[in-house]
Amino acid sequence: PPHSSFSPSPPPSSYELLFVGKKEDLISAQRTVVSLQGRDVLIIYHEGEFYAIDSYCYHSGSSLETGDIEELNNKLCIICPKHKYKISLCDGEGLYRARDRSQSPPPLRWFSKGVKQRVHPIIEIQGELYLRPATSGYIESDYYQGEQGKTHDEVT
Ligand code: FES
Repeated sequence: PPHSSFSPSPPPSSYELLFVGKKEDLISAQRTVVSLQGRDVLIIYHEGEFYAIDSYCYHSGSSLETGDIEELNNKLCIICPKHKYKISLCDGEGLYRARDRSQSPPPLRWFSKGVKQRVHPIIEIQGELYLRPATSGYIESDYYQGEQGKTHDEVT
């Protein structure tokens, strides 16, 4: 296993928590990509909070690792470097700004595309961070995990 050299003390619910790293290391790195049970997950430390979001953008599979972070429509979002799609860090919602044609003149406002990117709960236990992998249902970003997604990312 990739992180066995850390020898973490076992958390109380180790059957459903995956060791991510030591909190101090993840804070100093700010952004870390970890591979857990075949998923590449981007761990972000931003203004005192941790977020865990699948690494490859639901739109076309680009890495989100270097995306800017901004608050949009009262939600903290990562902006995909490739085509600037906006993704909420807390729940993976896709957001876009457009004219609201129901009003005249149509103002610009934010719209939701629903949840598009898989995010995971992340938990701190005694200075170590653990991820509770969220795997239920199908979310569009799932397509880019595994070999298929990596191949796609290289050719675009
Ligand atoms: Fe992320 Fe297109 S790949 S916006």
